[in-house]
Amino acid sequence: MTETVIPVSPDVAKSASVTAESYEAMYAASVKDPAAFWDDHGRRIDWIRPYSTVKAVNYDYPDVSIRWFDDGTLNVAANCIDRHVATRGDQTAIIFEPDDPSEAAQHITYSQLKDEVSRFANVLKGLGVGKGDRVVIYLPMIPVAAYAMLACARIGAIHSVVFAGFSPDALADRVNDSEARLVITADHAPRGGRATALKSNADKALRRCKDSVKLLVCTRTGGQIDWVEGRDFRYEDLAETASADCPPEEMDAEDPLFILYTSGSTGKPKGVVHTSGGYLVYAAMTHEHVFDYKDGEVYWCTADVGWVTGHSYILYGPLANGATTLMFEGVPTFPDASRFWQVVDKHKVSIFYTAPTALRALMGKGDEWVTKCDLSSLRILGSVGEPINPEAWSWYHRVIGKGKCPIVDTWWQTETGGILISPLPGATPLKPGSATRPFFGVEPVVLDDQGNELSGAVSGVLAIKDSWPGQMRTIWGDHARFISTYFEMFKGYYFAGDGCRRDEDGYYWITGRVDDVINVSGHRMGTAEVESALVAHEKVAEAAVVGYPHDIKGQGIYCYVTLMEGVEPSDALKTELANWVRTEIGPIAKPDVIQWAPGLPKTRSGKIMRRILRKIAENDTGNLGDTSTLAEPAVVDDLVANSVHKQ
Ligand code: WTA
Repeated sequence: MTETVIPVSPDVAKSASVTAESYEAMYAASVKDPAAFWDDHGRRIDWIRPYSTVKAVNYDYPDVSIRWFDDGTLNVAANCIDRHVATRGDQTAIIFEPDDPSEAAQHITYSQLKDEVSRFANVLKGLGVGKGDRVVIYLPMIPVAAYAMLACARIGAIHSVVFAGFSPDALADRVNDSEARLVITADHAPRGGRATALKSNADKALRRCKDSVKLLVCTRTGGQIDWVEGRDFRYEDLAETASADCPPEEMDAEDPLFILYTSGSTGKPKGVVHTSGGYLVYAAMTHEHVFDYKDGEVYWCTADVGWVTGHSYILYGPLANGATTLMFEGVPTFPDASRFWQVVDKHKVSIFYTAPTALRALMGKGDEWVTKCDLSSLRILGSVGEPINPEAWSWYHRVIGKGKCPIVDTWWQTETGGILISPLPGATPLKPGSATRPFFGVEPVVLDDQGNELSGAVSGVLAIKDSWPGQMRTIWGDHARFISTYFEMFKGYYFAGDGCRRDEDGYYWITGRVDDVINVSGHRMGTAEVESALVAHEKVAEAAVVGYPHDIKGQGIYCYVTLMEGVEPSDALKTELANWVRTEIGPIAKPDVIQWAPGLPKTRSGKIMRRILRKIAENDTGNLGDTSTLAEPAVVDDLVANSVHKQ
């Protein structure tokens, strides 16, 4: 097989912030002396008290500790807003494109952003929120979501954004785990022509939380909502009298900026903690170089602020760089499959960053949805969240980018805070499907199962040697879990949980998770979460959940369910269970396949052999591997005979 390599376009290289030569030199410097490298680049943001130490990192298990720019102080919101006002106060900071294309877009300038965020910050203060307090944000993709996040940053409160597609239960878990004192929501969240009753979800969630938790309600649709006197506050009422002047709080570099919950291979979601200084330096630095952002360009990342991509690459990175960032409330296929491209056309987007699952869905609708729009403003394309298959890559490159826009396939994670492996548009020849080479300061290694570093062209487990400024610092309330999840298995490295291949050019190809985390439409999910939702249903005795290849979603959710004694299996019950999981966790977790399992394959010690379940779900039953340790081998024959592929 000959491998496709797309050389760097001379046009892009001509004006790029990093070229092939400067990449090599900067990369070498960044790993040779990380402290000196980041000492320089840390100055790209404004510090109130400059740092004198840059890197204080210990990767020795179990005493892992990570600190960057330790004695510096700063305010993240001031870096994202105030420092730009003098030079670009009238420049648009945020373009808001609503769900309904007939509703007018909004352009919020840096000056306006300063007023809005300061006012919001004063409202938070008025509700008793202060430095270090946790605030949960459960909002649609509207400018108020950005104001709320930046307002927290301004007063030193720690925000935890919960994706508006999550259920009341998922919201309650996050409010309780973070011990938040305030939840911010909106009446309804319009999306794809429908509206989610966010306030009503928040009402349900708060029934499971402490009585002292307050609810701040922002108006989006003006639709009907219930009201709890004394607990609920209407944002617009409080904002009317709030001052638009709020001095930013001086924060330590290592003070937490936010908590973001993400799925792990076991147990409940983890509250990933990111801090202020290192995170912002890293988000800004990667945003500038990975997207080759140029002053005045319109940049659009289609993620939701409920995910880390929205944090780092809709908000913090772009705003720290004084960029114009677009926030889109809708979905790619509403009112029709042309929506993304119409938004690009309308706002003359230069840089477009999305997920492979959206590309696959749109690719299936045909090219005419694209070709009727003018996409000539596009310069750089990006991909994130899951491996991008070569077909989707080629379509993106040819039909969207007209063969002239480099695609940056960016590999990173909630935990990493920013992009770790990615092409740089003016520096890296592309190979479709490969995230290519590491960013400055990042040293990927490929390990075997025993934790030995492998050299040359090999496959194995992806880990990172040493730290980078945007790295997570702990799991909220559970530092021991942080150490054991990321540093115990392979001592001396950050273990990412992904498998990878490195080719003869030193390019990295991410092959997917090596743990029980699956990636459904670019959303990360722990199979354990779906299992615990299933067994919470009264008719379910036991459940095992695995991922399987899915044309559009990347991975689909395949559930093996054992019913309680005496319960009759039926298609109606399958639908009931699928909807049950949907309500327990959220629409993104709705099972694609439910297979009745009279028994699950277990070892004699009772451990479910997921490897076998994965193979059956993938319809790869020719070689099920070693089944000699199974307690009841006949169970497997039944599952194979009744798998969805045999029907
Ligand atoms: C996967 C999203 C292949 C990977 C920023 C990782 C990718 C998980 C890529 C993190 C990519 C992300 N190529 N796989 N370019 N980007 N992934 O925390 O499995 O939601 O571990 O962060 O997504 O998902 P998370």
